[in-house]
Amino acid sequence: MSEPSREPLRERAAEVLWANWTGTSTVPSRALYPHQWSWDSAFIAIGLRHLSPLRAQLELETLLAAQWGDGRVPHIVFNDAVPLGAYFPSPDFWRSTTAGRAAGAPADVQTSGIVQPPVHALAAWLVHRADPGLSRARAFLARLRPRLAAWHRYLLESRDAGGAGLAAVLHPWEQGMDNSPCWDGPLSRVDPAEPGAYRRADLAHGAPEDRPTDADYGRYVRLAADYRDRGYADVTGPDVTAPGAAAGAFRVEDPAFNALLIASEHALALIEAELGGRAAAARSYGHQVRARTLTRTLVARLWDPGRELFLCRDLRSGELIGERGVTGLIPLVLPALPSGVAAALMRTARGPHFGLGGTARLVPSHDLTGAAFDPRRYWRGPAWFNTNWLVAKGLRLHGERALADGLRAAMLDAADTSGFAEYVHPYTGEGCGARGFGWTAALTLDLLYAGRDGLFEGAEGKPGGAPEEEFAEESAEEGWGHE
Ligand code: SER
Repeated sequence: MSEPSREPLRERAAEVLWANWTGTSTVPSRALYPHQWSWDSAFIAIGLRHLSPLRAQLELETLLAAQWGDGRVPHIVFNDAVPLGAYFPSPDFWRSTTAGRAAGAPADVQTSGIVQPPVHALAAWLVHRADPGLSRARAFLARLRPRLAAWHRYLLESRDAGGAGLAAVLHPWEQGMDNSPCWDGPLSRVDPAEPGAYRRADLAHGAPEDRPTDADYGRYVRLAADYRDRGYADVTGPDVTAPGAAAGAFRVEDPAFNALLIASEHALALIEAELGGRAAAARSYGHQVRARTLTRTLVARLWDPGRELFLCRDLRSGELIGERGVTGLIPLVLPALPSGVAAALMRTARGPHFGLGGTARLVPSHDLTGAAFDPRRYWRGPAWFNTNWLVAKGLRLHGERALADGLRAAMLDAADTSGFAEYVHPYTGEGCGARGFGWTAALTLDLLYAGRDGLFEGAEGKPGGAPEEEFAEESAEEGWGHE
Protein backbone atom coordinates (compact mmCIF):
# COMPACT_ATOMS: atom_id res chain seq x y z
CA MET A 1 0.00 0.00 0.00
CA SER A 2 1.47 3.35 -0.94
CA GLU A 3 1.45 6.58 1.02
CA PRO A 4 -0.21 8.83 -1.58
CA SER A 5 -0.86 11.61 0.91
CA ARG A 6 2.87 11.89 1.64
CA GLU A 7 3.95 12.55 -1.96
CA PRO A 8 3.31 16.33 -1.83
CA LEU A 9 5.24 16.38 1.47
CA ARG A 10 8.20 14.73 -0.22
CA GLU A 11 8.10 17.30 -3.00
CA ARG A 12 7.83 20.23 -0.64
CA ALA A 13 10.68 18.93 1.51
CA ALA A 14 12.83 18.65 -1.61
CA GLU A 15 11.90 22.22 -2.57
CA VAL A 16 13.12 23.47 0.82
CA LEU A 17 16.47 21.76 0.35
CA TRP A 18 16.88 23.12 -3.18
CA ALA A 19 15.92 26.62 -2.02
CA ASN A 20 18.47 26.47 0.82
CA TRP A 21 21.28 25.05 -1.36
CA THR A 22 24.08 27.57 -2.05
CA GLY A 23 26.07 25.59 -4.63
CA THR A 24 28.42 23.96 -2.12
CA SER A 25 26.32 23.54 1.03
CA THR A 26 22.90 24.17 2.54
CA VAL A 27 21.84 27.00 4.85
CA PRO A 28 19.62 26.02 7.78
CA SER A 29 17.38 29.02 7.00
CA ARG A 30 17.83 31.75 4.38
CA ALA A 31 16.82 34.49 6.83
CA LEU A 32 17.82 33.37 10.34
CA TYR A 33 20.93 31.28 9.66
CA PRO A 34 22.37 32.31 6.28
CA HIS A 35 25.71 30.43 6.51
CA GLN A 36 26.76 26.79 6.90
CA TRP A 37 26.24 25.26 10.35
CA SER A 38 28.13 22.15 11.40
CA TRP A 39 25.54 19.80 12.91
CA ASP A 40 22.84 21.16 10.64
CA SER A 41 24.95 20.13 7.66
CA ALA A 42 25.34 16.62 9.03
CA PHE A 43 21.58 16.16 9.49
CA ILE A 44 20.90 17.86 6.15
CA ALA A 45 23.32 15.48 4.38
CA ILE A 46 21.40 12.54 5.89
CA GLY A 47 18.25 13.71 4.08
CA LEU A 48 19.89 15.17 0.98
CA ARG A 49 21.41 11.76 0.19
CA HIS A 50 17.97 10.61 -0.94
CA LEU A 51 17.72 13.40 -3.51
CA SER A 52 21.34 13.77 -4.58
CA PRO A 53 24.10 11.63 -3.07
CA LEU A 54 26.59 13.90 -4.83
CA ARG A 55 25.31 17.05 -3.15
CA ALA A 56 25.18 15.25 0.18
CA GLN A 57 28.86 14.37 -0.23
CA LEU A 58 29.68 17.99 -1.18
CA GLU A 59 27.82 19.24 1.90
CA LEU A 60 30.15 17.32 4.21
CA GLU A 61 33.25 18.00 2.10
CA THR A 62 32.62 21.76 2.24
CA LEU A 63 32.27 21.69 6.00
CA LEU A 64 35.34 19.56 6.56
CA ALA A 65 37.43 21.71 4.20
CA ALA A 66 37.11 24.41 6.90
CA GLN A 67 38.54 22.14 9.61
CA TRP A 68 41.24 23.73 11.76
CA GLY A 69 44.77 22.36 12.05
CA ASP A 70 44.12 21.19 15.62
CA GLY A 71 41.25 19.03 14.34
CA ARG A 72 38.27 21.11 15.42
CA VAL A 73 35.37 21.44 12.99
CA PRO A 74 33.97 24.96 13.41
CA HIS A 75 30.29 25.38 14.16
CA ILE A 76 29.80 27.97 11.40
CA VAL A 77 31.52 28.27 8.02
CA PHE A 78 30.76 31.78 6.78
CA ASN A 79 29.66 32.61 3.27
CA ASP A 80 31.51 35.81 2.37
CA ALA A 81 28.78 36.75 -0.12
CA VAL A 82 26.38 37.32 2.81
CA PRO A 83 26.44 40.86 4.32
CA LEU A 84 28.11 41.09 7.75
CA GLY A 85 24.95 42.39 9.42
CA ALA A 86 22.81 39.44 8.33
CA TYR A 87 23.90 37.27 11.26
CA PHE A 88 25.46 37.90 14.65
CA PRO A 89 28.12 36.92 15.70
CA SER A 90 29.62 37.63 12.29
CA PRO A 91 33.15 36.85 11.03
CA ASP A 92 34.51 40.14 12.42
CA PHE A 93 33.50 38.93 15.89
CA TRP A 94 35.15 35.49 15.65
CA ARG A 95 38.24 36.71 13.68
CA SER A 96 39.22 33.11 13.00
CA THR A 97 42.00 33.88 10.54
CA THR A 98 43.87 35.98 13.11
CA ALA A 99 42.71 34.92 16.59
CA GLY A 100 42.58 31.27 15.50
CA ARG A 101 45.93 31.21 13.72
CA ALA A 102 47.80 29.37 16.49
CA ALA A 103 45.08 26.71 16.61
CA GLY A 104 45.38 26.23 12.85
CA ALA A 105 42.31 28.07 11.54
CA PRO A 106 42.28 28.05 7.74
CA ALA A 107 43.44 31.24 6.05
CA ASP A 108 41.08 31.10 3.08
CA VAL A 109 37.71 30.90 4.82
CA GLN A 110 36.15 32.62 7.82
CA THR A 111 34.66 30.43 10.51
CA SER A 112 33.53 30.54 14.12
CA GLY A 113 35.96 29.10 16.68
CA ILE A 114 33.66 26.84 18.69
CA VAL A 115 32.31 23.42 17.69
CA GLN A 116 29.01 21.55 17.51
CA PRO A 117 28.01 17.92 18.13
CA PRO A 118 30.05 15.43 16.07
CA VAL A 119 27.35 13.89 13.88
CA HIS A 120 29.63 13.95 10.85
CA ALA A 121 31.10 10.44 10.69
CA LEU A 122 27.60 9.05 11.14
CA ALA A 123 26.36 11.30 8.34
CA ALA A 124 29.31 10.33 6.11
CA TRP A 125 28.52 6.65 6.60
CA LEU A 126 24.83 7.13 5.77
CA VAL A 127 25.68 9.27 2.74
CA HIS A 128 28.06 6.56 1.51
CA ARG A 129 25.34 3.94 1.91
CA ALA A 130 22.99 5.93 -0.33
CA ASP A 131 25.23 5.37 -3.36
CA PRO A 132 28.31 3.27 -2.60
CA GLY A 133 29.35 3.23 -6.26
CA LEU A 134 29.51 7.01 -6.51
CA SER A 135 31.15 7.19 -3.09
CA ARG A 136 33.92 4.78 -4.12
CA ALA A 137 34.39 6.46 -7.50
CA ARG A 138 34.93 9.81 -5.78
CA ALA A 139 36.99 8.30 -2.94
CA PHE A 140 34.51 10.06 -0.65
CA LEU A 141 35.22 8.03 2.48
CA ALA A 142 38.96 7.76 1.81
CA ARG A 143 39.24 11.56 1.63
CA LEU A 144 37.04 12.26 4.65
CA ARG A 145 38.41 9.54 6.92
CA PRO A 146 41.57 11.34 8.15
CA ARG A 147 39.61 14.53 8.78
CA LEU A 148 36.93 12.70 10.76
CA ALA A 149 39.58 10.86 12.77
CA ALA A 150 41.38 14.14 13.56
CA TRP A 151 38.07 15.70 14.60
CA HIS A 152 37.36 12.91 17.08
CA ARG A 153 40.96 13.02 18.35
CA TYR A 154 40.57 16.74 19.03
CA LEU A 155 37.41 16.15 21.07
CA LEU A 156 38.79 13.20 23.00
CA GLU A 157 42.15 14.80 23.79
CA SER A 158 41.88 18.59 23.77
CA ARG A 159 38.33 18.64 25.18
CA ASP A 160 38.69 16.07 27.94
CA ALA A 161 38.43 18.83 30.54
CA GLY A 162 36.98 16.49 33.14
CA GLY A 163 39.81 13.97 32.79
CA ALA A 164 37.40 11.00 32.59
CA GLY A 165 37.57 10.45 28.84
CA LEU A 166 34.40 12.29 27.75
CA ALA A 167 34.43 15.47 25.66
CA ALA A 168 33.40 18.71 27.37
CA VAL A 169 31.59 21.64 25.81
CA LEU A 170 32.63 25.15 26.75
CA HIS A 171 29.69 27.08 25.31
CA PRO A 172 25.93 26.32 25.07
CA TRP A 173 26.17 26.87 21.30
CA GLU A 174 28.63 23.96 21.15
CA GLN A 175 26.16 21.51 22.62
CA GLY A 176 23.58 22.98 20.24
CA MET A 177 20.61 23.29 22.63
CA ASP A 178 21.48 26.90 23.30
CA ASN A 179 19.11 28.01 26.05
CA SER A 180 18.31 24.66 27.63
CA PRO A 181 17.48 25.03 31.35
CA CYS A 182 20.37 22.59 31.88
CA TRP A 183 22.71 25.56 31.35
CA ASP A 184 21.01 28.01 33.70
CA GLY A 185 23.21 27.02 36.64
CA PRO A 186 26.60 27.04 34.87
CA LEU A 187 25.67 30.19 32.88
CA SER A 188 24.77 32.09 36.04
CA ARG A 189 28.51 32.25 36.81
CA VAL A 190 29.25 34.12 33.57
CA ASP A 191 29.31 37.94 33.56
CA PRO A 192 27.21 39.04 30.58
CA ALA A 193 28.79 41.21 27.87
CA GLU A 194 27.67 44.85 27.86
CA PRO A 195 24.32 45.04 26.04
CA GLY A 196 25.54 48.00 23.94
CA ALA A 197 28.63 46.13 22.74
CA TYR A 198 26.78 43.98 20.19
CA ARG A 199 23.54 43.84 18.21
CA ARG A 200 21.44 40.67 17.89
CA ALA A 201 20.39 39.92 14.30
CA ASP A 202 18.13 36.99 15.13
CA LEU A 203 15.28 39.13 16.47
CA ALA A 204 14.81 40.68 13.02
CA HIS A 205 13.74 37.25 11.74
CA GLY A 206 12.05 35.50 14.65
CA ALA A 207 9.43 36.21 17.31
CA PRO A 208 11.25 37.25 20.51
CA GLU A 209 9.20 34.76 22.56
CA ASP A 210 10.56 31.92 20.37
CA ARG A 211 14.20 32.97 20.86
CA PRO A 212 16.68 33.03 23.77
CA THR A 213 16.45 36.06 26.06
CA ASP A 214 18.83 39.04 26.04
CA ALA A 215 20.14 37.89 29.44
CA ASP A 216 21.25 34.60 27.86
CA TYR A 217 22.72 36.32 24.80
CA GLY A 218 24.93 38.55 26.92
CA ARG A 219 26.46 35.43 28.46
CA TYR A 220 26.84 33.65 25.10
CA VAL A 221 28.74 36.66 23.76
CA ARG A 222 30.98 36.88 26.81
CA LEU A 223 31.94 33.19 26.70
CA ALA A 224 32.71 33.31 22.97
CA ALA A 225 34.72 36.54 23.24
CA ASP A 226 36.77 35.17 26.16
CA TYR A 227 37.61 32.01 24.21
CA ARG A 228 38.57 34.07 21.16
CA ASP A 229 40.74 36.33 23.29
CA ARG A 230 42.62 33.26 24.56
CA GLY A 231 43.39 32.38 20.91
CA TYR A 232 40.84 29.54 21.07
CA ALA A 233 43.35 27.64 23.21
CA ASP A 234 42.00 24.61 25.04
CA VAL A 235 43.15 23.89 28.55
CA THR A 236 42.47 20.59 30.24
CA GLY A 237 43.14 19.45 33.77
CA PRO A 238 42.67 21.12 37.16
CA ASP A 239 43.36 24.67 35.88
CA VAL A 240 40.11 24.55 33.99
CA THR A 241 37.86 23.81 36.91
CA ALA A 242 39.64 25.72 39.68
CA PRO A 243 37.41 28.40 41.24
CA GLY A 244 37.96 31.70 39.45
CA ALA A 245 39.72 30.13 36.47
CA ALA A 246 38.78 32.23 33.44
CA ALA A 247 39.08 29.21 31.16
CA GLY A 248 36.52 27.27 33.12
CA ALA A 249 33.46 29.50 33.55
CA PHE A 250 31.38 27.08 31.48
CA ARG A 251 32.58 23.48 31.14
CA VAL A 252 30.01 20.73 30.90
CA GLU A 253 29.94 17.05 29.97
CA ASP A 254 26.77 16.53 27.98
CA PRO A 255 25.02 13.22 27.19
CA ALA A 256 23.85 14.02 23.63
CA PHE A 257 27.18 15.49 22.55
CA ASN A 258 29.05 12.43 23.82
CA ALA A 259 26.44 9.95 22.55
CA LEU A 260 26.76 11.43 19.08
CA LEU A 261 30.54 11.18 19.35
CA ILE A 262 30.19 7.51 20.30
CA ALA A 263 27.70 6.87 17.47
CA SER A 264 30.20 8.50 15.13
CA GLU A 265 32.96 6.23 16.51
CA HIS A 266 30.77 3.25 15.56
CA ALA A 267 30.37 4.83 12.11
CA LEU A 268 34.14 5.35 11.79
CA ALA A 269 34.60 1.65 12.51
CA LEU A 270 32.25 0.88 9.60
CA ILE A 271 34.00 3.42 7.37
CA GLU A 272 37.39 1.83 8.06
CA ALA A 273 36.01 -1.64 7.41
CA GLU A 274 34.57 -0.44 4.10
CA LEU A 275 37.91 1.07 3.07
CA GLY A 276 39.56 -2.32 3.61
CA GLY A 277 43.18 -3.38 4.10
CA ARG A 278 45.09 -4.42 7.20
CA ALA A 279 45.77 -0.96 8.58
CA ALA A 280 42.13 0.03 8.14
CA ALA A 281 40.98 -3.19 9.80
CA ALA A 282 43.14 -2.39 12.83
CA ARG A 283 41.77 1.15 12.96
CA SER A 284 38.23 -0.19 12.61
CA TYR A 285 38.77 -2.44 15.61
CA GLY A 286 40.18 0.50 17.56
CA HIS A 287 37.07 2.59 16.89
CA GLN A 288 34.80 -0.27 17.93
CA VAL A 289 36.67 -0.71 21.20
CA ARG A 290 36.63 3.02 21.84
CA ALA A 291 32.88 3.24 21.19
CA ARG A 292 32.23 0.51 23.75
CA THR A 293 34.62 1.98 26.32
CA LEU A 294 33.09 5.43 25.91
CA THR A 295 29.60 3.99 26.31
CA ARG A 296 30.65 2.53 29.66
CA THR A 297 32.21 5.87 30.67
CA LEU A 298 29.05 7.73 29.66
CA VAL A 299 26.98 5.48 31.92
CA ALA A 300 29.46 5.77 34.78
CA ARG A 301 29.70 9.58 34.55
CA LEU A 302 26.25 10.77 33.48
CA TRP A 303 23.59 8.13 34.21
CA ASP A 304 21.23 9.00 37.05
CA PRO A 305 19.50 5.77 38.15
CA GLY A 306 17.05 7.71 40.34
CA ARG A 307 15.73 9.89 37.53
CA GLU A 308 16.31 7.10 34.98
CA LEU A 309 17.88 9.66 32.65
CA PHE A 310 21.33 10.81 31.57
CA LEU A 311 22.19 14.21 33.05
CA CYS A 312 24.78 16.88 32.30
CA ARG A 313 27.80 17.19 34.56
CA ASP A 314 28.95 20.67 35.54
CA LEU A 315 32.74 20.38 35.66
CA ARG A 316 33.15 23.49 37.77
CA SER A 317 31.06 22.12 40.64
CA GLY A 318 31.74 18.50 39.76
CA GLU A 319 28.01 17.78 40.24
CA LEU A 320 25.34 16.41 37.95
CA ILE A 321 22.79 19.05 36.91
CA GLY A 322 19.32 18.06 38.09
CA GLU A 323 17.40 19.30 35.01
CA ARG A 324 15.74 16.79 32.69
CA GLY A 325 16.58 17.74 29.10
CA VAL A 326 16.04 15.77 25.90
CA THR A 327 19.82 15.51 25.76
CA GLY A 328 19.47 12.79 28.42
CA LEU A 329 17.41 10.57 26.08
CA ILE A 330 19.80 10.71 23.11
CA PRO A 331 22.12 7.89 24.35
CA LEU A 332 19.27 5.61 23.25
CA VAL A 333 21.00 5.60 19.84
CA LEU A 334 23.92 3.62 21.31
CA PRO A 335 24.07 -0.08 20.42
CA ALA A 336 26.24 -0.99 23.42
CA LEU A 337 23.98 0.65 26.00
CA PRO A 338 23.25 -1.85 28.81
CA SER A 339 19.75 -3.22 28.27
CA GLY A 340 18.58 -2.17 31.73
CA VAL A 341 19.61 1.43 31.03
CA ALA A 342 17.88 1.37 27.62
CA ALA A 343 14.68 0.01 29.19
CA ALA A 344 14.75 2.66 31.92
CA LEU A 345 15.32 5.43 29.36
CA MET A 346 12.31 4.26 27.36
CA ARG A 347 10.21 4.35 30.55
CA THR A 348 11.35 7.92 31.08
CA ALA A 349 10.53 8.87 27.48
CA ARG A 350 7.00 7.57 27.96
CA GLY A 351 6.54 9.03 31.43
CA PRO A 352 5.27 12.43 32.56
CA HIS A 353 8.48 14.33 31.84
CA PHE A 354 8.56 13.69 28.07
CA GLY A 355 5.05 12.33 27.33
CA LEU A 356 6.08 10.13 24.37
CA GLY A 357 3.05 8.27 23.01
CA GLY A 358 0.88 10.02 25.57
CA THR A 359 0.34 13.71 26.28
CA ALA A 360 2.97 15.08 23.88
CA ARG A 361 2.83 14.87 20.09
CA LEU A 362 6.60 14.93 19.78
CA VAL A 363 9.32 14.56 22.40
CA PRO A 364 9.84 18.01 23.98
CA SER A 365 13.28 19.51 24.40
CA HIS A 366 12.72 19.89 28.11
CA ASP A 367 10.85 18.33 31.05
CA LEU A 368 7.11 18.99 30.58
CA THR A 369 6.69 19.15 34.36
CA GLY A 370 9.74 21.32 35.08
CA ALA A 371 9.48 24.86 36.43
CA ALA A 372 11.53 26.14 33.48
CA PHE A 373 9.40 24.48 30.76
CA ASP A 374 8.30 26.92 28.06
CA PRO A 375 6.61 25.34 25.03
CA ARG A 376 7.72 28.04 22.55
CA ARG A 377 11.13 29.27 23.63
CA TYR A 378 13.78 27.50 21.53
CA TRP A 379 15.32 24.67 23.63
CA ARG A 380 13.27 25.22 26.80
CA GLY A 381 10.39 23.00 25.74
CA PRO A 382 9.59 22.96 22.01
CA ALA A 383 10.06 19.72 20.07
CA TRP A 384 12.89 19.64 17.53
CA PHE A 385 13.10 17.31 14.56
CA ASN A 386 16.72 16.22 14.94
CA THR A 387 16.28 15.07 18.53
CA ASN A 388 13.01 13.33 17.67
CA TRP A 389 14.66 11.60 14.71
CA LEU A 390 17.41 10.37 17.05
CA VAL A 391 14.92 9.18 19.67
CA ALA A 392 12.96 7.34 16.95
CA LYS A 393 16.19 5.64 15.80
CA GLY A 394 16.98 4.70 19.40
CA LEU A 395 13.50 3.26 20.00
CA ARG A 396 13.84 1.14 16.87
CA LEU A 397 17.32 -0.03 17.90
CA HIS A 398 16.03 -1.21 21.26
CA GLY A 399 12.98 -3.00 19.82
CA GLU A 400 10.22 -0.41 20.35
CA ARG A 401 9.04 -0.59 16.77
CA ALA A 402 5.43 0.52 17.27
CA LEU A 403 6.46 3.54 19.33
CA ALA A 404 9.09 4.44 16.71
CA ASP A 405 6.54 4.14 13.90
CA GLY A 406 4.10 6.33 15.81
CA LEU A 407 6.76 8.95 16.42
CA ARG A 408 7.69 8.87 12.75
CA ALA A 409 4.06 9.50 11.71
CA ALA A 410 3.74 12.35 14.23
CA MET A 411 6.94 13.97 12.94
CA LEU A 412 5.73 13.79 9.35
CA ASP A 413 2.42 15.38 10.34
CA ALA A 414 4.14 18.16 12.28
CA ALA A 415 6.64 18.87 9.49
CA ASP A 416 3.76 18.99 7.00
CA THR A 417 1.39 21.27 8.88
CA SER A 418 4.10 23.61 10.20
CA GLY A 419 5.80 24.26 6.84
CA PHE A 420 9.00 22.50 8.00
CA ALA A 421 9.29 24.64 11.11
CA GLU A 422 12.53 24.89 13.03
CA TYR A 423 10.69 23.52 16.10
CA VAL A 424 7.10 22.99 17.19
CA HIS A 425 4.93 23.30 20.27
CA PRO A 426 5.17 19.82 21.79
CA TYR A 427 1.46 19.54 22.62
CA THR A 428 -0.14 21.17 19.57
CA GLY A 429 2.48 20.77 16.83
CA GLU A 430 2.16 24.50 16.07
CA GLY A 431 5.26 25.80 14.27
CA CYS A 432 7.79 28.07 16.01
CA GLY A 433 11.01 29.77 14.90
CA ALA A 434 12.04 29.69 11.23
CA ARG A 435 10.03 27.96 8.47
CA GLY A 436 11.57 26.08 5.57
CA PHE A 437 14.18 24.85 8.02
CA GLY A 438 16.93 22.68 6.51
CA TRP A 439 17.18 19.73 8.87
CA THR A 440 13.40 19.54 9.33
CA ALA A 441 13.00 19.08 5.56
CA ALA A 442 16.00 16.74 5.33
CA LEU A 443 14.94 14.47 8.17
CA THR A 444 11.39 14.40 6.77
CA LEU A 445 12.89 12.97 3.59
CA ASP A 446 14.93 10.49 5.58
CA LEU A 447 11.81 9.32 7.42
CA LEU A 448 10.04 8.87 4.10
CA TYR A 449 12.87 6.98 2.39
CA ALA A 450 14.64 5.19 5.21
CA GLY A 451 12.42 5.50 8.26
CA ARG A 452 12.87 1.85 9.16
CA ASP A 453 16.62 1.60 8.73
CA GLY A 454 18.95 1.42 11.68
CA LEU A 455 21.78 3.91 11.93
CA PHE A 456 24.48 1.32 11.50
CA GLU A 457 22.99 -1.06 8.94
CA GLY A 458 20.17 -1.02 6.43
CA ALA A 459 19.74 -1.85 2.79
CA GLU A 460 21.86 0.09 0.34
CA GLY A 461 19.97 3.17 -0.75
CA LYS A 462 17.87 3.65 -3.80
CA PRO A 463 18.41 7.30 -4.70
CA GLY A 464 15.56 8.64 -6.74
CA GLY A 465 13.41 5.65 -5.77
CA ALA A 466 10.06 5.73 -4.08
CA PRO A 467 9.81 6.63 -0.42
CA GLU A 468 9.09 3.76 1.89
CA GLU A 469 5.57 2.56 1.48
CA GLU A 470 2.86 1.09 3.72
CA PHE A 471 4.10 2.98 6.79
CA ALA A 472 1.03 5.17 7.17
CA GLU A 473 -1.38 2.29 7.32
CA GLU A 474 0.75 0.25 9.69
CA SER A 475 1.25 3.19 12.03
CA ALA A 476 -2.46 3.84 12.03
CA GLU A 477 -3.14 0.19 12.82
CA GLU A 478 -0.63 0.13 15.65
CA GLY A 479 -2.04 3.30 17.11
CA TRP A 480 -0.41 6.39 18.52
CA GLY A 481 -1.60 7.64 21.83
CA HIS A 482 -1.79 11.38 21.36
CA GLU A 483 -4.80 11.55 19.09
N1 SER B 1 22.10 28.47 17.46
C1 SER B 1 22.81 29.69 17.52
C2 SER B 1 22.05 30.82 16.95
O1 SER B 1 20.89 30.91 17.28
C3 SER B 1 24.22 29.68 17.15
O2 SER B 1 24.72 28.51 16.65
O3 SER B 1 22.55 31.63 16.22
